[in-house]
Amino acid sequence: MTSRRTFLAKSSLLAGGLLLRGSAANSAMAHGMSTRANTLNASTLTPFVDPLPLPPIAKPQGLRALPTSAKLKLPYYRLAARPIDMKVHRALKPTRFWSYGGSVPGPTLETRSGEGVLVEWANELPQQHFLPIDHRLHGAEREKPRVRTVAHLHGAKTRPESDGYPEDWIVPGTSAVYHYPNDQDAAMLWYHDHAMGINRLNIYAGLFGSFLVRDAVEDALNLPRGEFEVPLALFDRLLTPDGQLYYPVSDKPDAPWVPEVFGDAILVNGKLFPYSEVKARKYRLRVLNASNGRFYHLAFSNGMEFHQIGTDQGLLPAPVALKSLLIAPGERADLVVDFAQHRGEAIVLKNDAFVVMQFRVSAQKVEDNSSLPRTLRPVPRIGESQAVKTRLLTLDEYTNLVAEPILLLLNGTYWHQPITEKPVLNTTEIWSFVNPTDDSHPIHLHLVRFQILDRQHYEPWAYQTKNELKFLGPAEPPAPNEAGWKDTVRADPRMVTRIIVPFEGFIGRYVWHCHILEHEDNEMMRPYEVVAS
Ligand code: C2O
Ligand code: CU
Ligand code: CU
Repeated sequence: MTSRRTFLAKSSLLAGGLLLRGSAANSAMAHGMSTRANTLNASTLTPFVDPLPLPPIAKPQGLRALPTSAKLKLPYYRLAARPIDMKVHRALKPTRFWSYGGSVPGPTLETRSGEGVLVEWANELPQQHFLPIDHRLHGAEREKPRVRTVAHLHGAKTRPESDGYPEDWIVPGTSAVYHYPNDQDAAMLWYHDHAMGINRLNIYAGLFGSFLVRDAVEDALNLPRGEFEVPLALFDRLLTPDGQLYYPVSDKPDAPWVPEVFGDAILVNGKLFPYSEVKARKYRLRVLNASNGRFYHLAFSNGMEFHQIGTDQGLLPAPVALKSLLIAPGERADLVVDFAQHRGEAIVLKNDAFVVMQFRVSAQKVEDNSSLPRTLRPVPRIGESQAVKTRLLTLDEYTNLVAEPILLLLNGTYWHQPITEKPVLNTTEIWSFVNPTDDSHPIHLHLVRFQILDRQHYEPWAYQTKNELKFLGPAEPPAPNEAGWKDTVRADPRMVTRIIVPFEGFIGRYVWHCHILEHEDNEMMRPYEVVAS
């Protein structure tokens, strides 16, 4: 390992003190590098004493004309970002968050496919940030306002001016009206902050919420609905002993950025280890991983099976039976769980060995008229021959001489460099992500939905030294529960992950990035532009 590190240091890969990270020994060091202030040990709190909260449903404040066509009037919502104090556990004092609309997660918008809405995103935050800004990061320089927000609706097909471009941030006392046409299939989207260089801090502070698009296809399936459809937004945090958000910093005061953040306090809809009283019947659980960097590997304590019916961009072709679910930051999973055979049981939802929440199934027998259909909707696979272009894109992590990650790039390119990805509107492309790092990077493209073609192991050494792609095994098709429409894909370590993407909707400038927010904020994000044919 040392000899390889030495080789890398001497090779041309070393640029200005940066090492391209590609060895297996770095992770532990990377994760141990931050100075841990005194944090609360979440496992000392009594679990299952607070009921699972449900974010309120946002209510429109009437109708408003579209700026571009005065005739069309759309439901108009206003969501203001403000500080709030919210109790995350019975035994803790209220925690200061920044919230859209008064709760974390913020209110859920319920909309229908083909029926657009307007949202006024207001910044009513104070002038000072309460989490540690790293002024070396692009977009967060000292001369920039400390508090900036810009809302992005993840998974939405919107015009660029409503997409929340990271540089379109607004300052306290101002607002921006965005138009979401909802010309897309039923799915659980989510809104969150996207401000350049401080996105990880703003989302950690609490600036996110869910946005549901419904449609007739979904309606016709008779899935569990109403009180039997439950959103579960998972987000982990570190807390100080008095219950306040703690965002870790490096040991360098002028460079506080850390490469990843994992908290032991896993919040579900804003509560720590909540419980939910459920009836002995089917429930539809809409799971969102809103964490900065944590991947969840979810399973029930009794080992019971459940079904995944949908992914990021809506329904799968058919339900997929699972005993556990892997979900990366930014991803959504639509699940049907049947408690009918578990009357009177207390079932814990776990993340590997750790507790997430508890379901208390009532002892009563109930009638369940909802269904878990055998098939859901057609998802025709896009043939590779549809693609007019294939792009090979490397995910790079750079370390300093003591193996601490200090920078991440997409295809060796910084944010400010000229746009290199310019797909033509209404064409299909294959994007191949080569991942020489030790981390899985959840890669997300704005505007579009895509399908996963495959993942394939390759020999990293030949790629790093000779730029040669030597595959080590067969191409692995996506797991059945990933074989639907996606907007975020796990690019796993030392694999090439290929997606096929129809670029539909609008022309203009969008972004693609890693959804580990610490990576995204430190250059693992690039603009791309959809151009007219
Ligand atoms: Cu969740 Cu750029 O997005
Ligand atoms: Cu997005
Ligand atoms: Cu990443």
